[in-house]
Amino acid sequence: MQTDFRSDTITQATAPMRAAMAAAEVGDDVFSEDPTVNELQERMADLTGKEAALFLSSGTQSNLAAVLAHGQRGDEYLIGRNYHILINEASGASAFGGLAPWPLAVDDRGSIDPAEVASAVKEPDQHHPVTRMLCLENTTNGHVQSVELVTELAAVAHQNDMVVHLDGARLFNAAAALEVPISAFTSQVETASLCLSKGLGAPTGSVLVGDKKTIAQAFRMRKMLGGGTRQAGHLAAAGLYALDHHVERLVEDHRRAERIAAALSSLEGLGVVQATNMLWITPPAELHDALDAHLTTQGIGFFPWKPTMRLVTHLGIDDQAEDLLISSFQEFFAR
Ligand SMILES: Cc1ncc(COP(=O)(O)O)c(C=O)c1O
Repeated sequence: MQTDFRSDTITQATAPMRAAMAAAEVGDDVFSEDPTVNELQERMADLTGKEAALFLSSGTQSNLAAVLAHGQRGDEYLIGRNYHILINEASGASAFGGLAPWPLAVDDRGSIDPAEVASAVKEPDQHHPVTRMLCLENTTNGHVQSVELVTELAAVAHQNDMVVHLDGARLFNAAAALEVPISAFTSQVETASLCLSKGLGAPTGSVLVGDKKTIAQAFRMRKMLGGGTRQAGHLAAAGLYALDHHVERLVEDHRRAERIAAALSSLEGLGVVQATNMLWITPPAELHDALDAHLTTQGIGFFPWKPTMRLVTHLGIDDQAEDLLISSFQEFFAR
């Protein structure tokens, strides 16, 4: 039984996924000759309604290749103040691209107010950076940003001559939650990065989608970042397998998180927020360490951040793990 709720990134390839990886037809992807990578890229371009797609080793590399493809040194990008590109990607956009971030306020669901975007745009003036790009994220800590909001934010950005990049590490979760096609989001933005190794359960890989010109530039950036890999089709095969077998089941992760949230909400003093496959649990401050120790003793993996812990449902979590998690919390609060 898998009882590691830390992240949906910890999933391991299933036996049929491994078989698909082993059987993949491959070629040299630096020469764009890997048929399985090419198939994955074409499929993702089709799914997202974009002209082209590029397979990269991670979400971080995909986001970085995108922002480097869009921006010049000294340009500015607007971004939600707690978004992954800003705080969890080692400042690659600034270090390698010379891009300056302008953090925007977000609400408790990670949403940006479109008025904030408009007011953050700098007047064209020799003193100011050129406000070049808006970086969005969906889901944001599990919270779905609606199609309407993404559309509105992108429209404000476009009215102000910006391009929009969407970090869609978990965009499939957002689309599943709203029961909309993924293109409902991607049609609004210039580029989007979609991860295969989160809820979709592939061991590695992300795909950047956009128009041909931007993807050609990102291809160059991927090379510069050391991300041109050879027989990558074995990895792309996992992505293709995931698209066929692991997209529709994402709602199961969401339902499981909902059930856990419903059970934990009845425990006195426990703050519970559920958003798609993520659970944010805030125990009374004086109980935090003891609860951490109790869950750890039960073999449950989670992030014990203070004041709010994080648990995530994913492909590896089954009914038994769900029951263990709920009963462990109940036991602790029954003491
Ligand atoms: C919202 C978001 N964007 C991007 C990434 C980066 O993905 P990777 O870990 O593949 O670099 C993550 C990783 O967890 C993420 O949560």
